[in-house]
Amino acid sequence: MHELAGFILSEPQILEIASRFQKAMTDGLAGKSSSLKMLPSFLTKPTGQEKGTYLAVDFGGTNVRVITVEIQGNGAYRTLRRLSFPLQDRSKGYDLTTRETAGSDLFQFIAGQMNAILEPGQTYPLGFTFSFPSRQTGVNQAVLIKWTKEIQTSGVEGHDVAELLQKALVRKNIIQVIPRAIINDTVGTLLTASYSDRYADIGSICGTGHNTCYLEPGYPMTGKPMIINIESGNFSELPATGYDLQLDRQSQIPGEQRLEKMVGGQYIGELTRIIIQDFINKKLLFTYGRPEIFFTPNEIKCEIMARQLADKSPELTDIAQWLKTTCQIHHSLLEERRTLRTVASIVIIRSIQLIAATYIGMLKHIDPNLEKRHTIAIDGSLYELMPGYANMLSITIKNILKDKSNLITTKLTKNGSGVGAAIAAAIVDDARVD
Ligand code: GLC
Repeated sequence: MHELAGFILSEPQILEIASRFQKAMTDGLAGKSSSLKMLPSFLTKPTGQEKGTYLAVDFGGTNVRVITVEIQGNGAYRTLRRLSFPLQDRSKGYDLTTRETAGSDLFQFIAGQMNAILEPGQTYPLGFTFSFPSRQTGVNQAVLIKWTKEIQTSGVEGHDVAELLQKALVRKNIIQVIPRAIINDTVGTLLTASYSDRYADIGSICGTGHNTCYLEPGYPMTGKPMIINIESGNFSELPATGYDLQLDRQSQIPGEQRLEKMVGGQYIGELTRIIIQDFINKKLLFTYGRPEIFFTPNEIKCEIMARQLADKSPELTDIAQWLKTTCQIHHSLLEERRTLRTVASIVIIRSIQLIAATYIGMLKHIDPNLEKRHTIAIDGSLYELMPGYANMLSITIKNILKDKSNLITTKLTKNGSGVGAAIAAAIVDDARVD
């Protein structure tokens, strides 16, 4: 399958990507031209002793989560109430993520929903996780630079989302909620991990989207430590294949989020579909039919890839079942099923290798001779649920860093984007002199 040769990266290629990434970080920090935005969060790590009851809103995709959480000090926290709601629901006939919707309506919808978990008479400082590239001028201001992850709601790009939310709270007469901090989900993940682990200095999301933040030891503007949202999903100095270029061309924002389109859960199912479609067109697969699913954009989700990778049976019976029920291919050949599984695994392995390369680039930026311990805190469905993903990511890093690798820990930090927002609000509260 020479069509797939460009997907397999050698160790020198991974190191080359790592060093380009490291250079792009330095350039971005210095304000030079770079695909990495290096956005300041105006936060540093928590002490682990922050305490209090907070409200956290987590908006990073088409589902919004709201929690009330009690952070208890000594690295402990407890979720009190939680609520989750979609921004699009075809059966109810609404979709707040399209260009036809105004940003003010989107935020009023969110404010209205969050009301449901507030206890009467209680005041809640709010931490808001908004997981899109945003330029912050303070811990509670964030102007959306550009929507990612295919959201398109009007009147939000170029506007301060904290202000949009504040106005929506006023409109809905919700006076018990006091916005304190706005953060990216990667920052939430790092804050949550570092609340109990002093070595955590990198926070990353490997899910629908992909992005990473880290603790910059000396932020150029202040000379002090600052958590920086790299917006690494936009990294572009990558060896893209023809399939990647095709996916990029047909996406909402061609030319942007190039790394994310090669590694993120939103895109890798579609990438797999594009490859299989090419194989069918070249008569390498399913020569006896034209299964529509492989000719319909966005029909292959990464859950299907997970299912294919999980099929360890000698005859790949679950893949056969899926081909039968979903694709109307009743008599697939074992070879064909193997090809499907190989394509899925090659796309996944490349996702892991590219992400590992970026982590290595950032580790070398933070600690050039790799002398200290570092925890990379990771959340997201790919990392958590894709068979073999977490393990292989850690092995890839180990193979490359060799004897230095025992200093590096990668670990799942669940729900960091919600809890982290509460911790961010608590850090702000602790710093206030009222
Ligand atoms: C996209 C967003 C980024 C976010 C990531 C993970 O890449 O641009 O801000 O952190 O998705 O949700």
